[in-house]
Amino acid sequence: MPLVSMRQLLDEAAKGGYGVGAFNVNDMEQIQAIMEAARETKSPVIVQASRGARQYSQDNFLYHLMLAATELYPEIPTVLHLDHGNSVETCKTAIDMGFTSVMMDGSLNPDGKTPSTFEYNVDATRQVVEMAHAKGITVEGEIGCLGGIEDGHGAGLDGLSHLTDPDQAVEFVKLTGLDALAIAIGTSHGAYKFSSKPTGETLKMARLIEIHNKLPNVHLVMHGSSSVPKALQDIINQYGGKLKPTWGVPVEEIQLGIKNGVRKINVDTDNRLAITGAIRKVFWETPEKFDPRDYLTPAREAFTTVGAAPMTQFGQAGHAGDYAPIPLEEMARRY
Ligand code: G3H
Ligand code: 13P
Ligand code: ZN
Repeated sequence: MPLVSMRQLLDEAAKGGYGVGAFNVNDMEQIQAIMEAARETKSPVIVQASRGARQYSQDNFLYHLMLAATELYPEIPTVLHLDHGNSVETCKTAIDMGFTSVMMDGSLNPDGKTPSTFEYNVDATRQVVEMAHAKGITVEGEIGCLGGIEDGHGAGLDGLSHLTDPDQAVEFVKLTGLDALAIAIGTSHGAYKFSSKPTGETLKMARLIEIHNKLPNVHLVMHGSSSVPKALQDIINQYGGKLKPTWGVPVEEIQLGIKNGVRKINVDTDNRLAITGAIRKVFWETPEKFDPRDYLTPAREAFTTVGAAPMTQFGQAGHAGDYAPIPLEEMARRY
């Protein structure tokens, strides 16, 4: 099966009442791990690459690895998505490369840090929608800003300073014509989201529900959705790491989101923790080893295990065979 549009996956998820995890990758092992998790759970999957990932892997390597994934996992509907595109130009290079979905994150200025104006966001997102839809490619936009800047995307602070305004979200969708809307409800990127277990109050779930009620047909996206499990933190610290105690987004809150219009859930940090824990364990227990396969193999396995769990929790498991891919040309005609 060729790479498919994200719009098709999210439309199917809406019909089935489930969510689809979007997992960040940077290299071959991470792509292999997430495809294997998708096969184990029979899940459609969104594989996403940030600007940093594209730079690290070089676009051509990443794209051709993804083509290999579609050849080796032909039964899995797979999307290649640009995560946090910072400008129209960045989205254009992804579209030209063969990505089947792009995020224009115009909630921030092109520096990826400072909150932008509503007008800038509408203008940049609208331009990307016109360019992408002409080729059947999906567009995610964002209104409101996430907190934290530890990984380079976010407005800093605690995640509560730039929550999504529901009326502005309605206006934004109307003016841009996007396919999926990322909203800010109090979370942030990275491992250090909360200093104690968050509740539905901490996470502003009521606001998410309000946005869904105003935009019942829009696919909502939750960024910063790693649950940062204590078990993964403990493995890292047991083998010489120095993570401070921290809490992520409880899976029950994501599941409540899925009942209220959330169709795409972004997860990166949990997989990073799994990989790092597995590598540290090998280094700690067998310091004499130096063949990268000795630590990259368990790292890849750990990512597969940690990646398969949300696929089941979000409900996408078992849905890989539900539908045939719609060609991008046909998607373009439908817009
Ligand atoms: O939202 C950010 C993702 O976790 C990707 O992070 O820019 O370090 O690749 P990155
Ligand atoms: P986490 O840092 O919670 O994994 O979020 C990832 C993300 O939102 C990527 O866009
Ligand atoms: Zn994000």
